Amino acid sequence: MNDTNHQSDWGNVATGSVMDRLVSLSKRRGYVFQSSEIYGGIGSTWDYGPLGVELKRNIKDFWWRTMVERRDDIEGLDAAILMSPKVWEASGHIDGFTDPLVDCKNCKHRFREDEIDPDKEPRCPRCGRGDLSAARQFNLMFKTFMGPVEDDASVVYLRPETAQGIYVNFLNVMNAARQKLPFGIAQIGKAFRNEITPGNFIFRTREFEQMEMQYFVQPGSAGEWLERWLEERNEWYRELGIRHDKLRVHEHGDEELAHYAAAAFDIEYEFPFGWQELEGVHNRTDFDLTAHERRSGKKLSYFDEEAKERYVPYIIETSAGVDRTLLVCLVDGFREEGEGKEARTVLRLDPRIAPIKVAVFPLVKRDGMPEMAIEVHAALKRRWNAFFDDGGSIGRRYRRQDEAGTPFCVTVDGESTSDGTVTVRHRDSMTQDRVSADRLAEWLEDHLS
Ligand code: GAP
Repeated sequence: MNDTNHQSDWGNVATGSVMDRLVSLSKRRGYVFQSSEIYGGIGSTWDYGPLGVELKRNIKDFWWRTMVERRDDIEGLDAAILMSPKVWEASGHIDGFTDPLVDCKNCKHRFREDEIDPDKEPRCPRCGRGDLSAARQFNLMFKTFMGPVEDDASVVYLRPETAQGIYVNFLNVMNAARQKLPFGIAQIGKAFRNEITPGNFIFRTREFEQMEMQYFVQPGSAGEWLERWLEERNEWYRELGIRHDKLRVHEHGDEELAHYAAAAFDIEYEFPFGWQELEGVHNRTDFDLTAHERRSGKKLSYFDEEAKERYVPYIIETSAGVDRTLLVCLVDGFREEGEGKEARTVLRLDPRIAPIKVAVFPLVKRDGMPEMAIEVHAALKRRWNAFFDDGGSIGRRYRRQDEAGTPFCVTVDGESTSDGTVTVRHRDSMTQDRVSADRLAEWLEDHLS
């Protein structure tokens, strides 16, 4: 990958500094702030600011529309984060949701064993010395206590995946929604993992959000559904406007498979720090439902009227991270372009997920112009997140909105009050169209979908 100062995938900016520039833009424009910043921050947790929260909501809405609203075979769910600890015993998370932890005796750095290059002499990734402890298994689940007594009987866990809330509600949802196999259950919600080495901004954090869908199928059709869902989910990222050449699929080898999976694929994105997982698509077989049947003593099988047989369904899972998708949208859209006075930083977000859809600028404060601009803004605000800015030069106002990822800026100028037209400037091409103020909403409707 190009690491010079010119023409990287991000315009003028060198690959190595993309993340630093993005973190600083995120703070400046109100996308992401360090959590508890005034106290020096807390490891790997982040807060979403005014633009970040809008972008996050737009991504989740886009997922929900695709996965639930536009389909008849998928139902929604919002299960509690705190569940019976028996759920995590049955699912295998208490025994098996671990990472091998190694301590460096020299610099005291703690890291995952897989951060050591297997082809070289074992060395600490931070100080480079070889005085390391043996690896020990570290459970990634956060533990807390329910109720006023802190003893073993009151231990509960913060869920490390949203999936289990779906499995234990499989029959409730199927019966209430009168679904038949194949059908799915979708959920968006927080998950928590006490990661040994979080990092890369919001890529790996200890508190994050997942968008998961579990699709229940006849066992013999699991392979076919796995392929279909992998294709659908890949297509979703392309529809989100992500550059195609930055997406790829990685199939897990036997040694990479999670304890519950018979086959697994990662949809990966090429971040400035390398190819990394964005979403997992897994064939979880009947592992989870069988385990919950055994532990709870409740039947979780399905009677197939057509095949006249009873079986425990296989599950095809699509598991995406909200925060990781948001990071991909920021990284993929980030560019530094132009030279000197023409230089600008721009976030080329797809207009459908951009936090602010349109900004309105009165050009100068005279001749009834602010009034007209205020009216135009108020009319747009009824339908979209529209922004009003009358501060500073027009160039500075454009630059602020370019950094915020706003796809269109509307300027109300000297001619507007006499001929009823306004200028619409396109964020990416910087070209301008003259549009009648009366037809502006219609024009935007066409360009925002
Ligand atoms: N239910 C299956 C499951 O949780 P996973 O591959 O461990 O599978 C799925 O996680 C997705 O959740 C990942 O592809 C990623 O997008 C997101 N994710 C997992 N751990 C994360 C973390 N520590 N920080 C941010 N996102 C994470």
